[in-house]
Amino acid sequence: MTHTPAVYTHGHHESVLRSHSWRTAANSAAYLLPELRPGLDVLDVGCGPGTITADLAALVAPGRVTAVDAAEDVLEKAQAVADERGLDNVGFAVADVHALDFPDDSFDVVHAHQVLQHVGDPVQALREMRRVCRPGGVVAARDSDYGAFAWYPERPALDGWLELYHRVARANGGEPDAGRRLFSWARQAGFTEITTTAGTWCFATPEEREWWSGLWADRTTASGYADLAVDGGHATAAELAAIAEAWREWGGQEDAWFMVPHGEILCRVS
Ligand SMILES: C[S@@+](CC[C@H](N)C(=O)[O-])C[C@H]1O[C@@H](n2cnc3c(N)ncnc32)[C@H](O)[C@@H]1O
Repeated sequence: MTHTPAVYTHGHHESVLRSHSWRTAANSAAYLLPELRPGLDVLDVGCGPGTITADLAALVAPGRVTAVDAAEDVLEKAQAVADERGLDNVGFAVADVHALDFPDDSFDVVHAHQVLQHVGDPVQALREMRRVCRPGGVVAARDSDYGAFAWYPERPALDGWLELYHRVARANGGEPDAGRRLFSWARQAGFTEITTTAGTWCFATPEEREWWSGLWADRTTASGYADLAVDGGHATAAELAAIAEAWREWGGQEDAWFMVPHGEILCRVS
C-alpha cells in the first residue's frame, strides 16, 4: 500500500527553524533519556535541523544515530549541526516514515519528535517505526497538542490564530491535536507495552516571550504555513498580517505566559 504524506505544514522557513533549532534532548526528549546508553543504534525520524539528533548522538556514542527527514534541504542544516559539534556517529538520509528503507530489526531506539502530527497516516508511521526496531528496543514519540495550548493574557485574535491553524493543518492532512491521540495510535499500530507521559514547554521570561511571539508572527506571514493558508483560501494576507500583529502585541505584555503541552509514548517492542 502507498501513502501520500502531507506536505510539511510549516516548511523550513527561518522562522520555523528558529523554533526547531532551540530544541534539545533535555527540553524535548526527557521521557526517553533513561532508555539511552552508549552503544545503542538510534533512528531519528523527521529530524528537521537536527539539534535533538545531535544530543542523542552524543548520548549513545559509540553507537550510531541515523537521522531521516522527508525534506532534503533541512538535512544539510542537520549535517552542519553534527559537524559543528564534532560528531562522527551520525548519518543522514531522505526517507518517508510511512515506508522506511531499512530492514526489519535495524535499531534499538526509533524516535520521532513532533512528526506524527504532520504525517498522512500516523498509525502506519508507527507500524513502520516498530518494524525497524529490534525486539527489546523502544519506539518513542512526542507530539504537541494545539487544542490544549494555554496562554494569558487572552486575546480574541490569538483564538483566531489557533482556529485557523487547526483548519490549515487538517486541510493539509495533519492532526494538530496529536498529543492526546498518540496512545490510541500506538494501540492501533499493534503495540501492547506502552508507557504514556505528558511534558510541557513554558515561555514566560522577556526573552522567551519575544522569541515565541516573534517566531509565530513571522511564521504566520512568511513561511510555508502562510502560503498554505492563503492558497487554500483559509485566510487573506491581510488577515495573516493582523494575526502576526496580535502575536507581537501579546508578546510585549510583561505578564504574558504560554504553555505548550505534549503527549509522549514509549512503546516496548516485543
Ligand atoms: C516539527 S518538525 C520536527 C523536527 C525535529 N524532530 C524537531 O523536533 O526539532 C517535523 C519534521 O518532520 C518532517 N516530516 C514530515 N513528514 C514526514 C514524513 N512523512 N516522513 C519523514 N519526515 C517527515 C518534516 O520535514 C519536518 O522536518
